[in-house]
Amino acid sequence: MELKLGDVQTTALIPLAIKANETLRKKPRIRDQKAVEIIKALNIETDQYDKFMSHEGVVARTIMLDRQLKEIIKKNPDTVVVNVGAGFDDRFSRMDNGKILWFDLDLPDAVAARKKAFDERDRVTMISGSALEDSWCGQVKEALKGRKSEPVFLAEGLFMYFTFDQIRTFLEILKNNFPDGGTLIAEQNCKMMVKMEKQHDTVRNTNAHFLSGTDTAQEIADLTDGIRLVEEHSFNEEATKYTLRAKLFALLFPKMNDRWATFRW
Ligand SMILES: C[S@@+](CC[C@H](N)C(=O)[O-])C[C@H]1O[C@@H](n2cnc3c(N)ncnc32)[C@H](O)[C@@H]1O
Repeated sequence: MELKLGDVQTTALIPLAIKANETLRKKPRIRDQKAVEIIKALNIETDQYDKFMSHEGVVARTIMLDRQLKEIIKKNPDTVVVNVGAGFDDRFSRMDNGKILWFDLDLPDAVAARKKAFDERDRVTMISGSALEDSWCGQVKEALKGRKSEPVFLAEGLFMYFTFDQIRTFLEILKNNFPDGGTLIAEQNCKMMVKMEKQHDTVRNTNAHFLSGTDTAQEIADLTDGIRLVEEHSFNEEATKYTLRAKLFALLFPKMNDRWATFRW
């Protein structure tokens, strides 16, 4: 499989490589056979995309967001989920209850690459488009017809590549197109990481740039009226369960790791 990806789209190879390598470990904490398959088909060297901090961060966020989304789906079995900036992520396979509808949205070249790796599946739609334009919303609105649950939007590894103005645009697209309410689960990195991007263990091996960071997710909620912060968690909460190095990192730099937050409107 050959790849032609833009700078920010290339960052999707980081979680892909990590999920594949973790799956191949003796005692994997997460399992993603699709990632293993894609990495094999791409025949790429994963070293540059799989370093300790990124690895532990991706494993932590996968465990935490799987748990969070499973709870939501358990309460609302007919949920419509939009995975925004999906890259090569295969969370649908772990979440499927036979009823949910799932959209994987990403930029055109990322979706073209994704389509080579993933077959068409029932109740899953790949959408080529930008999170910053609302052309994709029509398909999601159509899917919501006759469903009781509010839509859920996931933004894993996305907001740091947006400016605050772009995040505001995205939030307004959500509010305006889904006025009956919804949930957004989004990852953010810390402010300091924007200045220290050349120190980031894996993103520095791409040409992508961090464009925003927060001290608290309230800064995201404050970007526009009507978005409420429900909860926020550091990846440290999960990552510190596994290694001394992650424990030390959390102790020395408690605010440095990425966080995910749930917002509602
Ligand atoms: C770090 S990757 C994360 C991929 C995936 N969420 C995961 O965790 O495996 C960031 C993704 O965001 C996508 N992206 C960046 N800007 C975007 C935009 N404006 N609209 C949709 N997707 C975007 C990139 O193409 C890339 O696939």
